[in-house]
Amino acid sequence: MIKLIKSTFYNEKLTKKQLCDFILKTEQLSIGKHCAQFEKDFSKWQGRKFGLMFNSGSSANLALIQVLINLKKIKAGDCVGFSAVTWATNVMPLITMNLKPVPIDIELETLNISSKKVEESYKKHKFQCLFITNLLGYCSDLDKIRNFCNNNKILLIEDNCESLGSVYKGTKLGNFSFASTFSFYVGHHLSTIEGGMVCTNDREIDTMLRIVRSHGWDRHLTPFEQKKFRKKYKVDEFYGKYTFYDIGYNFRPTEIQGFLGSNQLKYLNTMVNKRESNYKQFEKIYSNPDFVKMNTKGLTKISNFALPLICKDKSTRDKYIKKAEKVGIETRPIVAGNINNQAFFSKYVNKKFSLKNAERIHHTGFYFGNNPDMTEKEVRFLVKTFQ
Ligand SMILES: Cc1ncc(COP(=O)(O)O)c(C=O)c1O
Repeated sequence: MIKLIKSTFYNEKLTKKQLCDFILKTEQLSIGKHCAQFEKDFSKWQGRKFGLMFNSGSSANLALIQVLINLKKIKAGDCVGFSAVTWATNVMPLITMNLKPVPIDIELETLNISSKKVEESYKKHKFQCLFITNLLGYCSDLDKIRNFCNNNKILLIEDNCESLGSVYKGTKLGNFSFASTFSFYVGHHLSTIEGGMVCTNDREIDTMLRIVRSHGWDRHLTPFEQKKFRKKYKVDEFYGKYTFYDIGYNFRPTEIQGFLGSNQLKYLNTMVNKRESNYKQFEKIYSNPDFVKMNTKGLTKISNFALPLICKDKSTRDKYIKKAEKVGIETRPIVAGNINNQAFFSKYVNKKFSLKNAERIHHTGFYFGNNPDMTEKEVRFLVKTFQ
């Protein structure tokens, strides 16, 4: 069986052994220096000033939206545009925080929202914030989207949970926005079993993220920032330990996740390159006229954890899914498909949006896995099956 996820970690046997040794030797397993080290090294790898680790990518996304609310960068009732093909937990915080979610249709050939689609939607909805998802290692014209957001004072945030390592016009995805999120769930590019990160160059965002991540208190702020808060709220040393400044959660990772992050970061370039080289083989599949050919203009590195195939119609997709099942290839829908068709969305957002391409993907798309442990034989087999 060619499964989506082949192993929990890269270099799995050794990593598990090192993890056991770490657990036996370490004194502290709750958040501490290993999480801090990983944050420092990961944000450096990504090319961002600050990185803050979370217990999942979903928590990272929720925390980021909460930060924008806490800092009054957006407020209840504001419209937030987002990619119509994304992960459900990107949209759920928008609903629970009384923001107005506006799904924006994607382009079939890039799987992502383009500046054209953003502009069209903006004319109608005038969103204050755009929450873009870089889906499955791809993007559309992100540079133009960024310019459009800058020119219209739209706050751009970026979910890069599926595209760690992809590069568009010389810039890593995840660096086009004010703040970006990452997931380290098993099967994503780098695994800490569960885990996430928010990266930003903005100190104020990083500080509020620390508050939101940890109950709303100031324990993980720098001493300088901590002093500032305690002074502003007239809090003494004793009560400083149990003072809660703003809306927060407990989204802290453990030292196990921090340790795993640093351990796997050593392999990140290798993993990204391996996925890219698999992708170059998989691209041959797009010569099959049954599938939409992806447009990767501007993308100089494509690092995805799955290969999307959009068929000409539903019956063609069903035929390929059956075939995959028969020969032992695991497949999935293209993420959440059209978000408009998801039960939670219909329940809480009483509005239908016209999302032609997302709808097409919903009914005619599927993906199979791309992971760095795939053998050449498996890659050849996948190409042969679908080409
Ligand atoms: C685009 C995207 N964002 C966010 C998430 C959530 O990440 P996590 O599973 O770490 O909560 C996922 C999950 O797969 C995802 O695909």
